[in-house]
Amino acid sequence: MNLRSGRLQDSMTSDAASFTSSMEFDKRIFRADIKCNMAHTTMLKEQKIIPAEDADKIISALKKLESEGIEALNLDPSVEDIHMALENYVTKEIGEVAGFMHTAKSRNDQVATDLRLVLKEEIEGIKADLLRFLDEILDMASQNTETIMVGYTHLQHAQPTTFAHHLLAYANELRRDYERLADAQKRVDMCPLGAAALTTTSFPIDRERTRELLGFERLMENSLDAVSSRDFIAETVFALSMLASNLSKICEELVLWSTYEFGMIEIGNEYSSTSSIMPQKKNPDVAEVARAKTGVIYGELVTIMTILKALPHSYNRDLQEMTPHLWNAMDIAASMLNITCDMLSSVKFKKERGVELAEANFSTATELADLMVREKNLPFRVAHQIVGRTVTEAIDHGMKPGEIDSKFLDKVSMELRGKTLGIDEALVKKALDPYEVIKTRRVIGGSSPEAVREVISHLRDFVAGERDKIQQKGSN
Ligand code: ARG
Repeated sequence: MNLRSGRLQDSMTSDAASFTSSMEFDKRIFRADIKCNMAHTTMLKEQKIIPAEDADKIISALKKLESEGIEALNLDPSVEDIHMALENYVTKEIGEVAGFMHTAKSRNDQVATDLRLVLKEEIEGIKADLLRFLDEILDMASQNTETIMVGYTHLQHAQPTTFAHHLLAYANELRRDYERLADAQKRVDMCPLGAAALTTTSFPIDRERTRELLGFERLMENSLDAVSSRDFIAETVFALSMLASNLSKICEELVLWSTYEFGMIEIGNEYSSTSSIMPQKKNPDVAEVARAKTGVIYGELVTIMTILKALPHSYNRDLQEMTPHLWNAMDIAASMLNITCDMLSSVKFKKERGVELAEANFSTATELADLMVREKNLPFRVAHQIVGRTVTEAIDHGMKPGEIDSKFLDKVSMELRGKTLGIDEALVKKALDPYEVIKTRRVIGGSSPEAVREVISHLRDFVAGERDKIQQKGSN
């Protein structure tokens, strides 16, 4: 069946056909297109819009195609798209009556429906992968609640913390990525079918019925909107961009922390490569490539937003050009997510180095100032100044943080304010001990092992709750 033969007597040049065909990236909506046609035909039959026996023939041809797979179709670009290839197949199988399938339906509402069906499912896949990642991080965090490291601001030593506390930053970021995808999914889960080309149809179709048959949560209630909106793609790809951004931050830290200078971690050999000339090298190539691919996903987001911009209502063929960018963003995000999860699981944290760094460079200074506030009732700004000067003098004298004692603090206080402090030596030592400092951060979200364990348990509840929801959906 040649779509053009009615209106246009000449065929497109093969260049023009290839240029405009969506066949290549339509392959991913093949199964959704069968489902969509089945639901539509079933509804047409139930509504007595088309003869029941023709509907049955159409449905059995669609079932046959489903079992034969996409190879049974003629995917030549001259056929234009998967919808035409599918219709051609059904026509070849059952003859002219195949044409009833297209009553009250357009490729415009069909492609929007197919994309939503596929995307809904693929987001579900990414969400499941995210839960797996959260499991991994939480297991790792449980084993590292007392693994000391230094925390950074401005990439300068700031305060001591633990590897578990740091891992929970990743976990909470990824939890929000999960929630963002779940939220986008609500707007993906809307049924445009029945909008036909743009204004619905005069046939008495039952849009609620096709919505139900296809398992969509809601109907799109304006037909122009239904065929022309792709905000569901844009927001999904934004959620993927944000996810990629969060993953790239993990990758960046793995690259940095595995350097000789930081020396804090060892990435598994399976996620490293070596140099063709420098035999000593162990390079974090997987993390680097993941970091770079983030940019490709951002690129897809910008492409998608730019195609959408200023399009007049309703359907325009421009919309078709978004599809390959959506798939590319999905594929890259999914592979980045899984490889980053596996790579992070392969990481060994070097505990002694963590302690060494936490003790080396005055990361406990804030606690020393807090001690003065607590013990000597000094305003924090005054304490801040005394400790700041103490650090400068210690550096000038080549002293280690651990060598600061009560006497030294008195000397600095004397210089600055003309009086000593007289803080108990044991308290000074405690304030300078990274692990003691970590233990004091007991407020929710803090670095103490107990606060960290509490957050681990919140996140475990979240993961379990989401798994329950998925299971319930599956059993419905
Ligand atoms: N292949 C098109 C797309 O992906 C669907 C067909 C609509 N084509 C048309 N000429 N109205 O959007």
